[in-house]
Amino acid sequence: MELNLNGKVALITGAGSGMGLLCAQCYAKEGAKVVLADLNEDAVKSAAEEINANGGEAIAVKVDVTNYEQVVACRDKAVEAFGAIDILVTCAGGAETRLLGLPWMPYHEIPISAIDFGIDLNLKGAMYFQHAVFAQMAKQYSGVMISLGSITGEEGGTMAYAAAKSALMKGVVKTLAQYGAEYNIRSVCVAPGPVLTRPGMANMKTMAGRAADPQEIVDMILYVSSDRGAFINGTTILIDGGRNVLMNKTGPQPEKKTAPKND
Ligand SMILES: NC(=O)c1ccc[n+]([C@@H]2O[C@H](COP(=O)([O-])OP(=O)(O)OC[C@H]3O[C@@H](n4cnc5c(N)ncnc54)[C@H](O)[C@@H]3O)[C@@H](O)[C@H]2O)c1
Repeated sequence: MELNLNGKVALITGAGSGMGLLCAQCYAKEGAKVVLADLNEDAVKSAAEEINANGGEAIAVKVDVTNYEQVVACRDKAVEAFGAIDILVTCAGGAETRLLGLPWMPYHEIPISAIDFGIDLNLKGAMYFQHAVFAQMAKQYSGVMISLGSITGEEGGTMAYAAAKSALMKGVVKTLAQYGAEYNIRSVCVAPGPVLTRPGMANMKTMAGRAADPQEIVDMILYVSSDRGAFINGTTILIDGGRNVLMNKTGPQPEKKTAPKND
């Protein structure tokens, strides 16, 4: 299927690893110019070098998504390098307990700093980028913003992570589409179930009996951000191998399977 992403400019946060990195590589393969933004400077630098060595066009920007000044500077670098931002994909994120190395503990014993960390990274980090990039897309009178939700935003799990992802999947994606309407800016949230960016995700149950290969999620992100997805706006696409309906499944339970390799 022709996605016509050739020449578009895609800015991807969390592009140093996992789905963000794969997004950047896939946009580049489709002929898009890519801005790889991440806290991990070495990771985005080497990924951008590889894209450029393979005939693509990429820049790497070190940014902490929780710092609005750095976010604005990253947007400005993207515009300086490529003249526009057509697609924003906010991938930077993760559960605060995992990233801070906290063991399970009762809610009232979780340090409040961990709650702040989770909300700052997962909610404010995405909103800061959407806010800064909106100004550029409004000038262009075009653009699409894709945020990464999670099945955890649907079913709960880690407190700040779940709260942030729920917000992205409902209030943020919808309100962004409402603000975007006057400027021809779309907003879509793609919410995965377990994805094999880490081997541990294979332990989460799904109706499919397996976790997703990252490519299965990235294919959807590319589709919704292309003109093929032009009618998708203000909504969340849950890609979870049916995990959200597993709890109420009667009869035989799904067999455990391995994910296909789609790349
Ligand atoms: N992997 C899964 O199973 C899964 C499931 C559902 C949702 N998600 C969501 O998808 C997105 C990508 O997940 P993944 O597993 O591919 O990610 P990952 O953990 O492989 O990569 C996250 C990237 O974000 C960067 N990052 C972290 N904090 C940052 C900060 N403050 N500023 C800038 N960059 C920062 C990291 O350096 C890293 O490169 C995340 O938002 C995640 O919550 C993942």
